[in-house]
Amino acid sequence: MAEIGLIGMGNMGSAVMKALVEKKGAEKLLFSCRTKEHGERVSGETGVRFEPSNKLVAEKSDLVILAVKPVIYPQVLSEIRDVMGGRKILVSFAPGISIADLTEKLGGFDRIVRCMPNTPAKVGEGMTGVSYDETKFTGEEQERIGDIFRSFGRMVKVEERLMDAVTTVSGSSPAFVFLFINALADAGVRYGLRKSDAIEMAAQTVLGSAKLVLETKEHPEVLKDQVCSPAGTTIEAVAALEEAGFRSAVLRGADACYRKCIGK
Ligand SMILES: NC(=O)c1ccc[n+]([C@@H]2O[C@H](COP(=O)([O-])OP(=O)(O)OC[C@H]3O[C@@H](n4cnc5c(N)ncnc54)[C@H](OP(=O)(O)O)[C@@H]3O)[C@@H](O)[C@H]2O)c1
Repeated sequence: MAEIGLIGMGNMGSAVMKALVEKKGAEKLLFSCRTKEHGERVSGETGVRFEPSNKLVAEKSDLVILAVKPVIYPQVLSEIRDVMGGRKILVSFAPGISIADLTEKLGGFDRIVRCMPNTPAKVGEGMTGVSYDETKFTGEEQERIGDIFRSFGRMVKVEERLMDAVTTVSGSSPAFVFLFINALADAGVRYGLRKSDAIEMAAQTVLGSAKLVLETKEHPEVLKDQVCSPAGTTIEAVAALEEAGFRSAVLRGADACYRKCIGK
């Protein structure tokens, strides 16, 4: 029996697999994906056994992670439905598919963890919002679930009704951050920097600023004030960004994402 079985080995599946191989060792894991060639290549690289059947992965694993696109869910759920039972746990990565939907499609199986990770998990700096009914899991199981998410970054447990907010604030938002990094790097190019140097500067600045927020626990507004000297250059930039609608652009982008999540 494997400790964890992964179904799907794309962006998210491979990020999680990488972290779990380091944390638990390849022999505790099992996975499947759509194409045999991809499965065999990943298996050769990681040492994790590839199983060409989703049903067998679910059958042979204590905890099953579903990392396929939402559109593929109906097919995979029907394949694994008969073998999900007992003390197994299902972890779902899909936005917009509720624990109740999954329980219904799995014939009443309800030991389900719904989560929303993000792609920085690939470098061990993921942010995952997690939701589950605590009454369905023992304390030890909840620890085990938390350990999985913490193996590739941070996790925050939220009520399931807030999962669309999580999708907006951390699931999709790496794309917003990449836009910002590239725009700032373009500005560097405009003033003569090489693009590669400018990207490194912008990216490291985002990384360092994020660390400063997380480690000092200071409010971002306080940290912003610390960079702005009276009548200095930075406050000029902040004022110009406010005039250009920087903050409202972020709120509007997030709102578009949230509305798409809730189907409005
Ligand atoms: N990417 C993100 O930023 C992100 C963030 C948060 C959550 N998510 C969620 O995470 C989940 C996975 O997304 P992703 O970006 O990792 O997708 P992806 O890169 O497109 O990978 C999908 C994987 O599913 C496999 N697959 C397709 N059909 C299958 C089937 N019938 N049986 C078994 N495996 C099958 C594919 O196999 P092959 O490799 O053989 O083609 C591939 O490995 C989705 O629900 C997504 O919404 C993604």
